[in-house]
Amino acid sequence: MAKRDLLTIFDLSRDEAADLVDRASSMKRDLAGAKPRIPLAGRSVALIFEKASTRTRLSFEVGVHQLGGQPLFISSQTTQMGRGEPIQDTARVLSRYLHMIMIRTFSQKTVEDLASMGSVPVINGLTDLYHPCQVLSDLLTTKEHRGFIEEQKYAYVGDGNNMAHSWIAAAAVLDLDLRIACPEGYDPDPGVLERAKALGGRIEVVRDPREAVRDATVVNTDVWASMGQEAEAKKRRKAFDGYIVDDALMGLAGEGAIFLHCLPAHRGEEVSDSVIEGPASVVWDQAENRLHMQKAIMEWLVESLD
Ligand code: CP
Ligand code: NVA
Repeated sequence: MAKRDLLTIFDLSRDEAADLVDRASSMKRDLAGAKPRIPLAGRSVALIFEKASTRTRLSFEVGVHQLGGQPLFISSQTTQMGRGEPIQDTARVLSRYLHMIMIRTFSQKTVEDLASMGSVPVINGLTDLYHPCQVLSDLLTTKEHRGFIEEQKYAYVGDGNNMAHSWIAAAAVLDLDLRIACPEGYDPDPGVLERAKALGGRIEVVRDPREAVRDATVVNTDVWASMGQEAEAKKRRKAFDGYIVDDALMGLAGEGAIFLHCLPAHRGEEVSDSVIEGPASVVWDQAENRLHMQKAIMEWLVESLD
């Protein structure tokens, strides 16, 4: 079988995305149970970081260990990558040592080059364009708290960034109903929207957060300035004024709506303290689910090698 990669949720079929959610859910149940599977036994997984991380790093390190493999944390700054060695060369060298590569970096092109030049599966652990592992695990959290992934009204309030793009991809692949509210100038990438529309995605971009959240059952937000955009933080705080998910906005959501945030959160900016600490918030389950979803993704990819 040809090796598979997870560079964006667009890489998945509808069944594959749904199966990953189901598999992560059963791995979560099995964790307390009798026989853990160890599909990474005797295998090593590189975890390359060009940006900071708490959840992605820890959930992958622990996940590889629980699947019986060896996690190798690599900061690009302490390797030749940080000194300009081309990613195409790194891809071919690492493929001689390792069985899988997870990378967090800036450009989507870097993960694409790594995947095309390397002979082992590559996982996108966040780029400026996408954060697929996060949204797959958010779908697991939605299923746990709402019962189904389908038949929800998803709202995303904030920046048209990597999280918004991954929700757009998920909505297209899984045929979900998604409304995104962004201020002018911070819309999602038109290429990502076009790709989603070509798959028949039910996705609407609006300006007013109230329009996005009204009757929503899953309300999601993310930081206003992502990693790499720190210099724009002040300008963005101005542009995103009114885009906070607070009690008034959550009050417009549907009965039993849940609040999601990939974390880290900036209380008082994109979310109020009362919402993130309130009854609708499922952010700690959401953070835990990263571990279960990383394991399901890695098991699926290692099976693609057999
Ligand atoms: N949500 C997320 O990816 O968190 P980290 O940046 O801590 O990995
Ligand atoms: N959009 C955020 C997500 C962090 C997990 C960023 O890229 O910094």
